[in-house]
Amino acid sequence: MKILGISGSPRSKKKSGVYTLVETVLKNTGYEYELISLKNKTINGCIACLGCVKDNVCVVQDDLAPMREKFIEADAIVFGAPNYYCTMNSTSHAVMERFFQFRHQAGDLLWGKLAVAVGVGGTTGSFPADEIEKMFLYNFVETIAKVTGQGAASCYSCGHGETCQVGIPQMIHGEDVKITEDMIPNVCNQKEVMASAVTAGQQLGERLSNHDRAAVTQAMQEKMMAMFGELV
Ligand SMILES: Cc1cc2nc3c(=O)[nH]c(=O)nc-3n(C[C@H](O)[C@H](O)[C@H](O)COP(=O)(O)O)c2cc1C
Repeated sequence: MKILGISGSPRSKKKSGVYTLVETVLKNTGYEYELISLKNKTINGCIACLGCVKDNVCVVQDDLAPMREKFIEADAIVFGAPNYYCTMNSTSHAVMERFFQFRHQAGDLLWGKLAVAVGVGGTTGSFPADEIEKMFLYNFVETIAKVTGQGAASCYSCGHGETCQVGIPQMIHGEDVKITEDMIPNVCNQKEVMASAVTAGQQLGERLSNHDRAAVTQAMQEKMMAMFGELV
């Protein structure tokens, strides 16, 4: 069993709440893992060229190309992204758009795998976590848990946080805010969030010990058809 972790934050691992939570989930599964940070990676979105239709291999040569096999080999994926404008950031979205290459002609390269979705935002991480779950559902991957936390918005350190009327410090603490070190959100200090990451890792480990890919695939297909049924 092998688990692939993706931290979609462009921040360094020491500064990224997403990286911390993805790593915490991975460390608690009991299985071998690899954690890839998207920091400094150049990954563009799908360009709809259909170059992947014949053989399920994306022809675009950027930093996603060497990651392709890792997605296929992994039994589970822990995918985390920061909240940018109430959705996941564009690099994370680009990675998930490029899952298009795995889909053609009953391409079952990702089907039935398990996942954990991680989201971190200056206010909430629920938006990217929900988006990640939806993208995985499109690929018949089951998100068994979502972990969300509050991270340090850049507004705390940009130099204008106390006076900026559209920044997160004023939004959360009011217009007379005086920024202190202890008010800057850090997932490491959020006991419930860290505990939920540990639990998600343990749950993923348990599910993997008894993993029926065909059954997961069928359940996700049914869930997706039900979702479409509500839309059309
Ligand atoms: C371009 C940009 C847009 C952002 N938009 C939001 C937002 O809409 N809501 C929110 O809660 N946080 C927002 N944030 C704050 C980040 O989600 C926050 O800094 C979080 O800690 C990022 O995760 P990371 O520490 O792993 O990079 C935004 C940050 C940036 C750089």
